[in-house]
Amino acid sequence: MYEEVKHPCIQHKLALIRDVGSGHKIFRELATEITMFVCYEALKNIRLKDVDVETPLAVAKCQMIDEDIVVVPILRAGIGMLDAILSLIPSARVGFVGLERDEETALPTTYYKKMPRQIRDGISIIVDPMLATGGSTIAAIRMLKEQGAERILVVCIVTCPEGLKAVGDAYPDVHIYTASIDPELNDKKYIVPGLGDAGDRLYGTI
Ligand code: PRP
Ligand code: URA
Repeated sequence: MYEEVKHPCIQHKLALIRDVGSGHKIFRELATEITMFVCYEALKNIRLKDVDVETPLAVAKCQMIDEDIVVVPILRAGIGMLDAILSLIPSARVGFVGLERDEETALPTTYYKKMPRQIRDGISIIVDPMLATGGSTIAAIRMLKEQGAERILVVCIVTCPEGLKAVGDAYPDVHIYTASIDPELNDKKYIVPGLGDAGDRLYGTI
């Protein structure tokens, strides 16, 4: 399952973040802004609870978020989306998965993992700007499922049909939200036109 979140503000920011002339400061700001828009949509069905709030005039019947949410950025580039999602859900807990793609095979290797102990009952949200072959996302989903996570969402900025198919075939129950579905992967398994290497662009390591 996937959803391409389209909105004029997202389209505008995608044009800017794709631009090879956008340096790491601008790239980071745009990644945060786009993530906010996509997460806003991804969170539209989370559970609420009724609460009574006293205004200066009367009691208002209100609703507040009633879910235990764990955000899981895939290192490194996923860290560029973390502040945005935490500003929407400040009470979320955070798990980390360190994955690095091999430059030749494009297969991910795990170099770090630190998850909150209890992730069974809430929603786990994996964040990574790029879902290319899907290998890194599939590895992160597998780790979460091994720890008992049942409701998993993925939020990315750019993906492509090949990656969506790979994740969908492996985990049809996981819903993916993205700002863009680009046409294809190139022979180095980079998304085209894409953003280039998101980690390098976020952190100025080009
Ligand atoms: C990038 C990106 C994803 C992965 C996507 O990370 O941030 O994690 O590649 O590719 P895939 O869908 O084919 O697995 P990379 O391994 O380059 O590490 P980095 O975040 O440290 O730059
Ligand atoms: N990783 C990136 O940073 N970009 C891609 O297009 C593919 C993998």
